[in-house]
Amino acid sequence: MQVDDVQRVTVLGAGNMGHGIAEVAALAGYDVVMRDIKEEFVQNGYEQIEWSLDKLAEKERISAEEADAALDRVDPIVDLETAVSDADVVIEAVPEQMAIKKDVYGDLEEHAPERTVFATNTSSLSITELSEVTNRPERFCGMHFFNPPVRMQLVEVISGAHTSDETMDLIEGLAEEMGKTPVRVRKDSPGFIVNRILVPLMNEAAWIVESGDATIETVDSTTKYDMGLPMGSFELADQVGIDVGYHVLEYMHEVLGDAYRPCPLLAEKVDAEELGKKTGSGFYDYE
Ligand code: CAA
Repeated sequence: MQVDDVQRVTVLGAGNMGHGIAEVAALAGYDVVMRDIKEEFVQNGYEQIEWSLDKLAEKERISAEEADAALDRVDPIVDLETAVSDADVVIEAVPEQMAIKKDVYGDLEEHAPERTVFATNTSSLSITELSEVTNRPERFCGMHFFNPPVRMQLVEVISGAHTSDETMDLIEGLAEEMGKTPVRVRKDSPGFIVNRILVPLMNEAAWIVESGDATIETVDSTTKYDMGLPMGSFELADQVGIDVGYHVLEYMHEVLGDAYRPCPLLAEKVDAEELGKKTGSGFYDYE
């Protein structure tokens, strides 16, 4: 399949990343199915897209007509078979845990047409291991967007051990059609490139606070104003989802060793379900 043949994109997962990716695909003119396991999840994702498109129109990044047309192209669906039956590309953005993703790929393989290419938005997990759950490991790769997808330019396109060049070309082309800048990642290693750098930064910031060396506010002022990052480390953790960063760290710790041990401060927030912006509080409050 060539990128010009792609018409329908199905996004699995309507959470922070899923609805953002669905929005990006719809803005690029694709027919988009956004699927999650419960009606309330898909409706919530749909409302988030509506909010975001309104915001983009309000800021004159797109016109009101473009916002309406993009929303019209998004079909929120719960039934997996219906969601994937006509998909050219499936972009999977379900929670960042190997067992959950493997279950999803098992079900997906049963219902998706032979031609469909699978792309996972995993932030860190092995593309090769995920691809081996399916019968199409050569038509499987990573397509990693950043939060918030509609505002972030970069997409990592990651090759697993079995991914064909044709699949890499297709997904790279798709990212470009979506107005993004793809970077091709040839080595399927935990965290790929961006999270190998960014997630330890968030973890180290947490260790500084955990050890009493500085406050959250001081660390954030330093990362934002001295280091020139667009957000402070804790602000970024709240934006990304503290649980997402934590799961990435757990995996990097397991595979790469002790340097990546997650700070207990992150675990406490995950246990308390204070996950950042999406739950209304994390290291900061958003109510
Ligand atoms: N859709 C539309 N509008 C949005 C939005 C969205 N999804 N998210 C935020 N906005 C709005 C805000 O509500 C705000 O609106 P108001 O001014 O009305 O309050 C506005 O955008 C802010 O936009 P600005 O352009 O004024 O602000 P900015 O220049 O600071 O840009 C940003 C915002 C692009 C998010 C910027 O802060 C940034 O780049 N932050 C870093 C984000 C980042 O690094 N993400 C990667 C995280 S790592 C990851 O995602 C990978 C992983 O796997 C863990």
